[in-house]
Amino acid sequence: MTETRIDEIGDRIYRLSTFVSSAGGPNGITFCEYLVDAEEPLLFHCGHRQRFPLGAAAVARVMPVGRLKWISYSHAEADEAGAMNEWLGAAPGATAFHGRFGCNIWLNDAAIRPPRAVKDGETIDLGGKRVRWIGTPHLPHCWDAGLLYEETTGTLFCSDLFAQPGEAALFSDGDILAPAIAFEAGAHATSLGPTTGKMIRKLADLKPRRLALMHGPVYTGDGAAALNALADYFDAELRAAL
Ligand SMILES: [Fe+2]
Ligand SMILES: [Fe+2]
Repeated sequence: MTETRIDEIGDRIYRLSTFVSSAGGPNGITFCEYLVDAEEPLLFHCGHRQRFPLGAAAVARVMPVGRLKWISYSHAEADEAGAMNEWLGAAPGATAFHGRFGCNIWLNDAAIRPPRAVKDGETIDLGGKRVRWIGTPHLPHCWDAGLLYEETTGTLFCSDLFAQPGEAALFSDGDILAPAIAFEAGAHATSLGPTTGKMIRKLADLKPRRLALMHGPVYTGDGAAALNALADYFDAELRAAL
């Protein structure tokens, strides 16, 4: 791990990306966090605690880290939330937020300041950008899981959905399903259950213009079609398992 890049992937939306050759299998894996620059800037995914200096230096190339107002993540894991308290420490005016489950089972206890609990479907007006919390329990995994949708740019921050190994390109409008299925077949990272396909189809209904992957490129093709195809895959897996 040598550097964290920061690239604008939409109007004032930035991707921090770090390729780690020693993680995620023989080809390494890329970890991405997303910065939404607005009147009240937001960071979605905190990155690993040990990568915080790299992440903070990357954000500082765009804006002072101390301007951050909101910090969130999909589910309590090291790549999602490991550096949360480092970010909260560097940005004294920032508040972490998560769904009710996430606050109750982890965040209320873990965060150095009281977090804000948001309801499924609740939006936060960042001033120039609006983010909607979408509760997705156990999708991609973990009870507390949720995703974030930025309404003004149609960007779905989709965490580990479509996760693929390797050094991720910045953008892709190619096939993100096949590499994700290949990775899933080996990693079994997704908590497969009766609501998996249904929740992914609900995400497809948003018709997102961009899918901002945590482990992979920013997908600029037909987001709804990709999500529906992913739901089809999981539905078939579930039927086969039954
Ligand atoms: Fe995860
Ligand atoms: Fe992840």
